[in-house]
Amino acid sequence: MAGGPTTPELVAAVTAAGALGSFGFAYSSAAQISSVCGEFRDLCATRGLQSDCGWNANFFVFPDVAEPEASFIDDAVKNLQPMAKRVEIDAEVLTHATQLPALTDQVNAALVYQPSLVSFHLGIPAESIVDLVRNAGACIAMSATSRAEALAVQAAGADFIVAQGYEAGGHRGIFDPMADDEMLVTLDLVKAISESCTIPVIAAGGIMNGSDIAMALDNGADAVQLGSAFLTVDECGSSATYRAVIKSMGERKTQITSGFSGRPARGIRNLFIESIGPEILPFPWQNSLTGAMRKAAGSKGDFELMSLWAGAEYQKARSCTAAQLLKELLEELREEMEKH
Ligand SMILES: Cc1cc2nc3c(=O)[nH]c(=O)nc-3n(C[C@H](O)[C@H](O)[C@H](O)COP(=O)(O)O)c2cc1C
Repeated sequence: MAGGPTTPELVAAVTAAGALGSFGFAYSSAAQISSVCGEFRDLCATRGLQSDCGWNANFFVFPDVAEPEASFIDDAVKNLQPMAKRVEIDAEVLTHATQLPALTDQVNAALVYQPSLVSFHLGIPAESIVDLVRNAGACIAMSATSRAEALAVQAAGADFIVAQGYEAGGHRGIFDPMADDEMLVTLDLVKAISESCTIPVIAAGGIMNGSDIAMALDNGADAVQLGSAFLTVDECGSSATYRAVIKSMGERKTQITSGFSGRPARGIRNLFIESIGPEILPFPWQNSLTGAMRKAAGSKGDFELMSLWAGAEYQKARSCTAAQLLKELLEELREEMEKH
């Protein structure tokens, strides 16, 4: 979960509990990745864990996008202006849109610290990057939101497919955000992919308890991936405001929007999602454009303008330690399996 939730403490706690902790490095520079991985390695050492004992480095893959025309940027700035005003951000700040760090540099920085799994979201990386990871001895996962994407992931040489259903929180892994979205929910997607592909499938989207895990496994998943369930655990880097919304505003539904980043992503409905007009720059330009506003909203505790990424079942998130959550999930899964 890029953008703050995945702290070294969270990844270490998940790994220590026997699951596979993941770092979302999509927005991190090589230097930031080195620093976070170094912190993680030290944390693992103090807990008697090897930092190569099983952790995942995750990255975004997206096509290079030329800088949008100045007039398009102007329109997108105007689109944002009323909301930016609410948190006292001016147009000058809004125009500093930038690209994200180069994927090869990001991956190289993480590989120094020996992740056991490197995963890619939003698309298939270049063959040279797949080779880089393979030569470093790590396994490779790529996410897919349709059968066609899953077949492409398998053909690209991945070891695992992350089947990301429509309920999933955060960025939707669809390769081409302009293409028709099949909107398959997790169980249907897992079934379709496991029937068509030979490599293992990891189910993601709306999985919040042991019964959800059992259902995913019953429908052909080999493993599961949980995001939103970890947003309220003690070690997560989510802000107090974000947690408070998750815990107290359960009547709010989630929605997919491209308004925050330029790519479709699921978050809790708020004023921003309801108000943003169609003048949206492509990813990552829009992400950068809205960054200052989101940061200001975050520091003011104004959740109406924050990107509150969450899956459709976010209301079921628990407040406890990561180890306690994993223990409970395992107990619930065992109970479900005994019923069969
Ligand atoms: C806050 C948040 C951030 C996320 N960031 C990433 C990311 O950086 N990379 C990625 O592959 N998936 C990301 N996801 C999606 C998750 O990998 C996963 O597909 C999703 O959380 C599963 O649905 P759930 O949230 O209902 O458990 C994110 C999800 C959330 C909730």
